[in-house]
Order: sequence, then C-alpha cells, then structure tokens
Amino acid sequence: MRFRSLCSVRNPSIGRRSQVRDLGCFSNLGFRSIFTNCRAVVLPRFGGPDVLEIRSNVEIPNLKPNQVLVRARAVSVNPLDTRIRSGYGRSIFEPLLPVILGRDISGEVAAVGHSVTSLCVGHEVFGALHPTAVRGTYTDYAILDKDELTLKPPSVTHVDASAIPFAALTAWRALRSTARICEGDRVLVIGGGGAVGFSAIQLAVAVGCHVVTTCAGQSIEQALAAGAEQAVDYTIEDVEIVTKGQFDTVLDTIGTEDTERAGINLTRKGGHYMTLQGEAASLADKYGLALGLPMSTALLLKKQLQYRYSHGIDYSWTYMRTDAEGLDEIRRLLEAGKLKVPVEKTFPITQVREAHEAKDKRLIHGKVVLEVD
Ligand SMILES: NC(=O)c1ccc[n+]([C@@H]2O[C@H](COP(=O)([O-])OP(=O)(O)OC[C@H]3O[C@@H](n4cnc5c(N)ncnc54)[C@H](OP(=O)(O)O)[C@@H]3O)[C@@H](O)[C@H]2O)c1
Repeated sequence: MRFRSLCSVRNPSIGRRSQVRDLGCFSNLGFRSIFTNCRAVVLPRFGGPDVLEIRSNVEIPNLKPNQVLVRARAVSVNPLDTRIRSGYGRSIFEPLLPVILGRDISGEVAAVGHSVTSLCVGHEVFGALHPTAVRGTYTDYAILDKDELTLKPPSVTHVDASAIPFAALTAWRALRSTARICEGDRVLVIGGGGAVGFSAIQLAVAVGCHVVTTCAGQSIEQALAAGAEQAVDYTIEDVEIVTKGQFDTVLDTIGTEDTERAGINLTRKGGHYMTLQGEAASLADKYGLALGLPMSTALLLKKQLQYRYSHGIDYSWTYMRTDAEGLDEIRRLLEAGKLKVPVEKTFPITQVREAHEAKDKRLIHGKVVLEVD
C-alpha cells in the first residue's frame, strides 16, 4: 500500500486537528483501515437554521464499487437544502433522519471504489448528488457515484465550480434531455436571475438558440451579457405583452400560477413547457407517499392532457437528475468560459447556520458557498 499524502481534518468539537492519511492507489479497504469518521453538518430534525449541527464523528460508509470518496473543498447552498431543512420532502427524509444536507461539491478524490477507472486519488473534481440523496455534501468527505462527478478545470476555483452542477444539470435535463433544444430555437427562461435560470440561458445560447428571459435588477444586465436577446423585467412588465411571438421551449423556474399561465400561453403548438415546481414532493408530504404519489401522477396526467388539448403543447414537471453526458457538457462550457454561476458570498462551513439564515431571510440575493478547510 502506497501513501500519497498526509492531510489533516479539523475536529471542531474538540478544537484540534486529527490526522488522516490520503492514500495513493487508494482501495476501499485501504481507506477503511485509515479513517472511518469525519465532520459533517447534520440535520437531526426539521426546522430553522439553528437545527443544523456540526458533528465530528459521522460515519463514512464503505464505498460501493462505482463510488468515489471526495475530500470537499467547497459546497454550495441550493434552495433545496434550505427547503429540506424546513421540512420539504419530509415524506422521504423523516424516516431517514438524521441526514446530511447538500447536493453540490467541488474537491479532491480521496478514494475510489474498485470499478472506478476514470478517476484517481488526487484528481480535482466537481459534481452533484441526486435530489433525494441522504448522505449529502456538507461534510469533509462526501460519497458520490463516479457518474455524478467530472474533472474540475484547473482554471476554475473550487468555490466557483461548486456553484454550478446542481443548477446546471437541472437546466440541462430540461433543455437538452427533455425538450432537445436545437440551434435556431426560440427559448423562454422564466426566472433567468436564479442559478438554474441563468444556467439555462447560457446552455441555450451555447446551442445557438434565441433566448428571452424574465428577471429583475442586476440580473437583467447579467442575462443580456450572457447572450439573452431580451430580458423582461418581471417586476414592471408583463412578459405576455412585451415579447413577440411564441417559443419552442419554455422553462419556468418559478412555477407560480401567473408564470405557469404566461409560460403556457407563450409556448407554440408542438412546443415544450416545463416547470421546476412539480408537486410530487408537496403532495407526498401532505398525504403521505402511498396517497400523495398516485395523486401527483394523476394531477400531472390531467394537466398534460388538458394542455395538449387546449394548447397542443407538451407540459411537464422537470427535476434535476445526474447525467454523465450533461456533466461533461457542463465541464466543457465551464472550461471554455461559456458557463458560470456567480458566487455572491462564501462562509466557512462552520458558519452553515448563518449561511442558511441569510438565504432564508433573503439577505443575500445570489449564490452562497460553504468553504471546507
Ligand atoms: N425540480 C428540480 O429538480 C429543481 C432543481 C433545482 C431548483 N429547483 C427549484 O427551482 C427554483 C429556482 O432555483 P434556483 O437555484 O435557480 O434559485 P435561486 O438561485 O435562488 O433563484 C431565485 C431567483 O429567481 C428570481 N425570481 C423570483 N421571482 C421571480 C419571478 N416571479 N419571475 C422571474 N424571476 C423571479 C429572482 O432573481 P432576480 O430577481 O434577480 O431576477 C431570484 O433571485 C427554486 O424554487 C428551487 O427550489 C427545482
């Protein structure tokens, strides 16, 4: 067995550093023999930011053959994290508490399962977990499938890389995998000021689409600079009035009654309307999984039939899903400087409560990243 480096992990509860070894050619067995616990931000019950606990002795499970252990350097805060903390998805997560929050990560490979050949110990990687993952990324050592990770371009910092994958993969799945946008298509992104919406603008521009978006304030300049042809200020303008013609694809990241109505009216016959605000989780939370999931399937089907009949369009709820092809395209665009999600503020991971509070109270408009030392 070959030792590659010696690193140290801060143990906040006892205020000292305990040493662990990162192994070169690191087998699963090898890493188990060196360390089995690490620091993580744990959610023991649902509630406000104060329920979050930093624990120093959280177990690192055995790696499955296709899994990768990542030494986290930066993890971003997504709306999903604060929503899960408050109880969204309780029908899934409540029986599994305590869970570790966090979806996005950028860091270094610390160990690989025995069937992973594409990544090696020491590689700098970034990626994102599936929305329902129970052991998240707010930890010194996160576990992701190899397909949930890709190499981080050296020119991009861990902080900037961590802000991208969950949002960009959500946008990628909707635009590239579901709607299959093509060069010359007209694409409307409702909510182009958010991380998913801004990623969607950049993905569609990179394909050669004509992009219109709705946003406000400084996001207007940002959207136009990224290549949107029109940015409608949703706080003072009506998108249905100020845009001309209809769109092949509409991605609605906001999903209110108003944005859904406008988005559907602006989708051309044969086009796609997709909303990020599907109701599967909220109905399951309200009525339980056994009743809520069939109810959500019935509701979705009803809406699909209704809008196919009334508008001749494809209506769908779209969700983030990991996709190796998508992550590869995201990495290439990031490397080429064609995709970014601006980070507004970073916090050390020890201040995770403050970071969540700032997002809850809307004190910070843009992306927040937790730095992991
Ligand atoms: N279904 C899924 O799998 C999935 C995946 C990721 C995210 N989501 C959900 O999608 C939503 C967006 O996520 P995100 O990460 O992009 O959030 P975010 O970065 O926090 O973006 C929110 C932004 O939306 C803009 N906005 C708010 N109301 C608007 C309106 N009426 N019209 C147009 N823009 C409006 C605001 O930007 P400006 O005012 O600056 O324009 C705001 O900053 C969240 O609700 C999130 O939970 C779902």
